[in-house]
Amino acid sequence: PRVTIVGAGRVGSTLAQRVAEKNLADVVLLDIIAGMPQGLALDLMEARGIEIHNRQIIGTNNYADTSGSQIVVITAGLPRKPGMSRDDLLKTNAKIVVEAAKNAIAHSPNAIFIVVTNPLDVMTYLAWQATGLPRDRIMGMAGVLDSARFETFIALELGVLPADVKAMVLGSHGDLMVPLSRYATVNGVPITELLDVATIERLVERTRNGGAEIVELMQTGGAFFAPASATSVMVESILLNQSRLLPVAAYLQGEYGLKDVVIGVPCRLGCGGIESILELNLTDREREGLHTSAQSVRKSIERSQE
Ligand code: NAI
Repeated sequence: PRVTIVGAGRVGSTLAQRVAEKNLADVVLLDIIAGMPQGLALDLMEARGIEIHNRQIIGTNNYADTSGSQIVVITAGLPRKPGMSRDDLLKTNAKIVVEAAKNAIAHSPNAIFIVVTNPLDVMTYLAWQATGLPRDRIMGMAGVLDSARFETFIALELGVLPADVKAMVLGSHGDLMVPLSRYATVNGVPITELLDVATIERLVERTRNGGAEIVELMQTGGAFFAPASATSVMVESILLNQSRLLPVAAYLQGEYGLKDVVIGVPCRLGCGGIESILELNLTDREREGLHTSAQSVRKSIERSQE
């Protein structure tokens, strides 16, 4: 199989490394900067003997080289600077993502698309519109990352192995995300049994702010290691038809009482893309959180089209 990654920046190039070194697929890295994706691809190819895999990595500035991809990941666009919200990137990234989605679908009409560019939910919606794809074949990555951040903070607080912590964060990728604390567990033990309410609230706040915390520390750009890992898990579940249940930004058609909007919900990911959307029983507060998040995504979609 072949995975195209549009945008060979920090998220895109790290994802290329993950996909190739996990031996999931050949990778085409595309960027508008001449020479840059070609150089990265050569560098990754030279690591193959050491990492012991035989996947091809191609760098290009030309969409013709992406043809026949099973998966297209869009990471092209600007990242945040300190003090910026994800929405500050709206208009610039909208143009880039729409153009990338149209070009990519023209060469890979059967591909499944994963959008990573921020503001995530809006960009996924615009890419859905631009490609005209059925909703099971286009999605956004945010919830896997936000959940991993929540799990990390829980694991740090309790001093346990991060892999033993399971949590899910729904809603939009931003301040209005909806971490489902009551479903979070350490190997099946609810964190509500292990931590007091105030501590959980503090960890939830740190999760909401997880992206900005890294932007503030780094000053130039944002997180990319964990975002690349999160995206690679989605790629893996699709390519290997694993049917993992992951929080994914999906186009809703009535689920959770929401229509014609993209927002993070639990999805089963397999070779067809989004194979089903799970409707959890939410408390009134969680449901309200999801609706507030959806409203803000809708507003941004409108603003992006003004
Ligand atoms: P970066 O600046 O390192 O890379 C972006 C790349 O896109 C650059 O190489 C640039 O040349 C390229 N690009 C720009 N316009 C293009 C076009 N028209 N066609 C092809 N390539 C183009 O940024 P980074 O850190 O890799 O982040 C990429 C995007 O992902 C940002 O919007 C960022 O906010 C978002 N992001 C989203 C996350 C999520 O959870 N959904 C997590 C981390 C980042």
